[in-house]
Amino acid sequence: MAQRKRLPMLGAVLLLAALILTPLGCTSKERSPEAHLLEVGCGVCHSTETPLSKRKTLEGWRRTVNAMRARGARISDEEAEKIVNYLYRIRPKDN
Ligand code: HEC
Repeated sequence: MAQRKRLPMLGAVLLLAALILTPLGCTSKERSPEAHLLEVGCGVCHSTETPLSKRKTLEGWRRTVNAMRARGARISDEEAEKIVNYLYRIRPKDN
């Protein structure tokens, strides 16, 4: 009897563990290579919310990223271009 009662409890514990561990998984959206790049390249002086709360044109994002590089963002040309395209993809503005 007592044995049978413990099973649902185990299920609940496993479910809870899965819920807690899921955001750390590499397959989650937040951990895409571009999101990671944004975090390490753009999240050091201000939070990534600073760019993620804005919308810009492709040129606008390019200008912003160049301005941040002038301020000291340590990213390569290639990384800058990836970040520009990523930001335009998720935070676009038409004109
Ligand atoms: C060396 C420090 C530093 C790094 C690295 C950095 N920024 Fe900034 N950023 C600043 C400062 C300083 C400001 C102006 C103050 C503020 O708004 O917090 C700013 C402001 C901004 C703004 C708001 C103003 C605007 O132009 O719309 C955006 C968007 C932005 N940064 C995006 C980025 C992106 C994207 C990256 C990565 C490529 C980045 N930042 C990396 C220092 C930095």
